Amino acid sequence: MRLKMKLLMIFLVLVGFMGESYARAYTDENEAVKKGWQHFKMFCANCHGKHADGKGPLVEAMKLMLSDLTTLKQTGDICIAERVLRAVSGVHDVPEGQEQKMPVFSGNLESITIYEITQFLKAIQK
Ligand code: HEC
Repeated sequence: MRLKMKLLMIFLVLVGFMGESYARAYTDENEAVKKGWQHFKMFCANCHGKHADGKGPLVEAMKLMLSDLTTLKQTGDICIAERVLRAVSGVHDVPEGQEQKMPVFSGNLESITIYEITQFLKAIQK
């Protein structure tokens, strides 16, 4: 296994555990979703759109090919938490023949932020 993959696996496991304890720390589960939406609007919406539908203001300027993140559940069999982690770590799948255009966020976002964004995305799945 490549080192990058090993590090990612360790990261995934750690965040998995943290996710558990964060989840218990919230009295109201919606709190995480609400915070997640705030983070999403700040870090992700320029490309993915405020409602994660892939219609952000940078799409045209950057010639992005974005899928609708409200249908993550219907595409592929990897769970949403892992899809998000892979995307923010820059090791997600990219459409055939395309270079990766999403910036790598993992060094800049706290695990709790990634967790909350994940809760938001889970809550808006169609
Ligand atoms: C500069 C534009 C940009 C920003 C900002 C951005 N993304 Fe992305 N994102 C992309 C692009 C483009 C793709 C499609 C794959 C690729 O080209 O990397 C993508 C793909 C994804 C996917 C799908 C991966 C899959 O498995 O199909 C997820 C989930 C995702 N982004 C989450 C996020 C989150 C969460 C944030 C904010 C922390 C974010 N993105 C910020 C451009 C962006």
